[in-house]
Amino acid sequence: KKRWPGLINAYKQYLPVSSKTPIISLNEGNTPLILSKSISDLIGNDTKVYLKYDGLNPTGSFKDRGMTMAISKAKEEGREAVICASTGNTSAAAAAYASRGGLKSYVLIPDGYVAQGKLAQALMYGAEIISIQGNFDKALEIVRKLSSEYPINLVNSVNPYRIQGQKTAAFEIVDDLGIAPDWLCIPMGNAGNITAYWLGFKEYAKIKKNLKLPLMMGFQSEGSAPLVKNIIVQDPETIATAIRIGNPVNRDKAKIVKKESKGDFQSVTDEEIIVAYKMLAKEGIFCEPASAASVAGLIKNKNRIKKESTIVCVLTGNGLKDPDCAIKNNDAIFQKNIEPSLKNITKILGY
Ligand code: F0G
Repeated sequence: KKRWPGLINAYKQYLPVSSKTPIISLNEGNTPLILSKSISDLIGNDTKVYLKYDGLNPTGSFKDRGMTMAISKAKEEGREAVICASTGNTSAAAAAYASRGGLKSYVLIPDGYVAQGKLAQALMYGAEIISIQGNFDKALEIVRKLSSEYPINLVNSVNPYRIQGQKTAAFEIVDDLGIAPDWLCIPMGNAGNITAYWLGFKEYAKIKKNLKLPLMMGFQSEGSAPLVKNIIVQDPETIATAIRIGNPVNRDKAKIVKKESKGDFQSVTDEEIIVAYKMLAKEGIFCEPASAASVAGLIKNKNRIKKESTIVCVLTGNGLKDPDCAIKNNDAIFQKNIEPSLKNITKILGY
């Protein structure tokens, strides 16, 4: 069996790299496409629902796909530092890949709104962390301006190499299924990932004859739904802190994706997100709240789905990223301060 070489090496002919590009990789990509029995059964009508579990990337989110490209290209350009604004996952990926490539990374994050796992990663991977008294949108505004004036590469999804790397997830889905799904359900924050997937499907359709393109279904949290409402949200709020974004930079690109694919953008409530989050975990798949928005959104559209559809929901980040959310939102029986005797435990088990 051939060893997975990382997504740049695997899909080199489709990516803007050359023999001169130093490939900075953690063997990202090749994540599992898991058939969900519980969600398929819930949708019914012989629908097959697959989960693209991108939380199994090296730093636990899909950002690694974009970051291997962005950092490799920064290195090729001879840059010594990169910067990003982040709700957490981008900062973790940027820090990891920058360190691996010998580059310095600076990350701007919103005070108090980055999940613990992500913060731990940025700290460990060696980023310089600047936590601002403001939200993601403010942080992005600052780093965009800064990177346009100084020799430091911006590695947010306005960086075109990020989109190039992330499109490989669509390739993997088609390679796995042999077809493109009828629907692709995906959470949206800055809308870089939905843009990347659509690019990937379209590029593969040019190469692979008769590849039918999916409807692109993008989901946002109700308290943070600028693309659904077509507005700028000044104070976005949601339990899904990863997608707590009020002014997505890829707004125009996302609109084109929706139009071209005949898809839709909809919002889901935090409560609906948590229902989906728990449902997935009960089947053994632990994702972060933002990722569960894709499944929550699908469930909302149950009655719109044609018989025998194939659907892929993208699970963008690992559940371990946000332990606080899991500890606060579960139905587990968790008994504490138990006297450690065999008799006592036997009684608890009901034998
Ligand atoms: N899911 C997760 C887990 C994310 O971290 C993000 C974005 C998204 C979905 C949305 O992707 O922005 O391409 O539409 N996180 C960014 C970050 C903003 O800083 O980590 P998008």
